[in-house]
Amino acid sequence: MTTESKNSDTPKVQAKGADAYRDPSWWYDIRGFFILMGTYQVMIWTHLTFFAKNLGQKHLEAAIGSGTFLALTLLTKKITGGKLPEEIIGIDYAERMLKGAQTLFKKHKNIQLIQADLGNINYPDAYFDSVNIAHSFHAFPDPDKVLKELHRVMKPTAHLYVDVLLAPGGGYLRTTIANRVNRFCFKKGILARTCDAETTKAQFENNHFNVINSYIKGNTYHIIAKKE
Ligand SMILES: C[S@@+](CC[C@H](N)C(=O)[O-])C[C@H]1O[C@@H](n2cnc3c(N)ncnc32)[C@H](O)[C@@H]1O
Repeated sequence: MTTESKNSDTPKVQAKGADAYRDPSWWYDIRGFFILMGTYQVMIWTHLTFFAKNLGQKHLEAAIGSGTFLALTLLTKKITGGKLPEEIIGIDYAERMLKGAQTLFKKHKNIQLIQADLGNINYPDAYFDSVNIAHSFHAFPDPDKVLKELHRVMKPTAHLYVDVLLAPGGGYLRTTIANRVNRFCFKKGILARTCDAETTKAQFENNHFNVINSYIKGNTYHIIAKKE
């Protein structure tokens, strides 16, 4: 099943997989901030407080990238109060991105970084208490395969928090900016598709997730799901 939006401004270019993330991770971070503002059209604080709510004892950061967003999420959790995870596993298939995360977290003994495809996670069934997918779902070449694998490694009580990039909406200026940024991301191969909320929700349900809450902010669809 595809969640690709029917927006005609969206070129039909597939994500190039790990190969699309060859830029240095510091450049990804700077560029990522502008992409966030231009296309998701949500303030970074909104993203951070969303994901900081889902940090269980054994946490999986799916598609951790350069690690900067996770570091900020952990800082947000510290500021807003609450327990930090005892064990964090960060998975990403792009070597260059993971190098940034390795440097960032080199003193954190409880954070393990693994270069792997999320469609094949080398962890036992029902291992994780929480899973976050930040800014990545729409970049997955095979989202169904990833959802199936995440479902397997999540505990029955675990929550999955995801932000999904929607096809640009809003006024003329907002839409034009978002379309431009998306075109750049498609060309780079770091965006596989933009989505629409209804089909994305159905996609989670078809993969045996119960969507317990979902809402739209800017061009971003926030999903909170549990195993059925
Ligand atoms: C836009 S970045 C987001 C990184 C990070 N979560 C953040 O918010 O900064 C998308 C990341 O997804 C990773 N990725 C995409 N598909 C993947 C897959 N199937 N398995 C592992 N990593 C994947 C890419 O390598 C890239 O680092």
